[in-house]
Amino acid sequence: MKILSLGAGGFIGAHLTECLLSRGHVLVGVDTHTDKIETLLDHERFTFINQDISAPEFAMEALVGEADLVIDLIAYANPGIYIQKPLDVFRLNFNENLKIAEACVRHQKRLIQFSSCEVYGKTAASTHQDLLNDPEDPLLAKFSEDNSDFILGPVQKHRWIYACAKQLLERVIHAYGMEGALNYTIIRPFNFIGPKIDYLPEDTDGFPRVFSHFMEALIKGTQMKLVDGGRQRRCYTYIDDAIDCIYRIVENSHGACDRQIFNIGSPENETTIHGLAELMKEIYRERFSVPGEKLADIVDICAENFYGFGYEDSDRRIPDISKACNLLGWTPKWGLRDMLESTMAYYVTEYAESIR
Ligand code: NAD
Ligand code: UGA
Repeated sequence: MKILSLGAGGFIGAHLTECLLSRGHVLVGVDTHTDKIETLLDHERFTFINQDISAPEFAMEALVGEADLVIDLIAYANPGIYIQKPLDVFRLNFNENLKIAEACVRHQKRLIQFSSCEVYGKTAASTHQDLLNDPEDPLLAKFSEDNSDFILGPVQKHRWIYACAKQLLERVIHAYGMEGALNYTIIRPFNFIGPKIDYLPEDTDGFPRVFSHFMEALIKGTQMKLVDGGRQRRCYTYIDDAIDCIYRIVENSHGACDRQIFNIGSPENETTIHGLAELMKEIYRERFSVPGEKLADIVDICAENFYGFGYEDSDRRIPDISKACNLLGWTPKWGLRDMLESTMAYYVTEYAESIR
């Protein structure tokens, strides 16, 4: 199959590029960064185009027209950007992605669109603080693709512009599907983690994702900062499990993914962010620290000091993955400790020598 992968040089894109090439596909990748796919650039079945998709010279029509399948991973995907550049987030994550979807309509090409678990927003329980920590609370049911409501915060909390842009894109794609004009699959990732997730932040608070902030603090022996005490919860998913599921969606056996939305996540791997910090520190002390090394302190910081005005958190998000299990025969295999050990080993090898 000839596949056009937009965002092929990002975290998920780089792992997917490797997978698609290893399975014999012909791949055209587009991105503005190459550092995560340097070793693949010379591959005989890989054509890489270093191009901003919003630039007028981007040959969208020709590239979509020549592909059998289009995978769109491009987005601003770090919460710090949602706060600092909300309009850029809307323009890229909605306007530019919509152009890709509409090119797929024009050329009648199948589209795999990356959305986000963030479309679900907050849990209903987040508006009832007394229920927040009650795991039996029915308001904390898992998020399911075709039944759950979306609960976002007020406009002044502009963090939600990301979720809102992703949600609107999903709704437009769904509408094209209903009119019979587009065959699509939408993917909602739940906090993937793995090698190459981000660069290390080098003191630029707010941009990369939490793993990289904590990893840098551990390597430098500085502070692991818990935003609002680290009470928020996430379900972490190892990138190998995620790619296994994504590849099943690429194959689309018997059309099982046609006009479907899939959560991809590991519901068993839920942790508070405080728990994540403690576990990463424990693993670092046991496996990666050198004798006499100062270990990072875990400290609290308020959200506004860390991200700036307009931040609001997603309190808890647990995926219902029964659809992916039933339709694709997929189940995630990696537990939280194992995925952290594997990802941390990569970062220690890549960065520790230069940072310490
Ligand atoms: P990423 O930031 O690592 O990858 C995005 C890639 O898009 C980057 O390589 C970037 O250079 C590229 N890009 C950005 N703007 C571009 C432009 N104008 N032209 C060309 N390339 C451009 O993000 P990721 O973690 O790989 O996420 C991929 C997709 O999955 C995104 O749509 C994101 O919203 C979604 N997602 C990811 C997660 C996760 O856990 N990683 C969670 C939810 C949603
Ligand atoms: C995550 C991903 O990080 C985004 O890339 C993705 O786009 C988004 O999901 C999505 O679902 O679409 P989030 O989990 O909120 O977003 O972002 P992280 O930066 O990984 O933060 C996780 C939690 O840790 C948040 O509660 C945040 O406030 C907290 N945090 C972050 C800290 O306590 N300390 C830090 O140093 C950084």
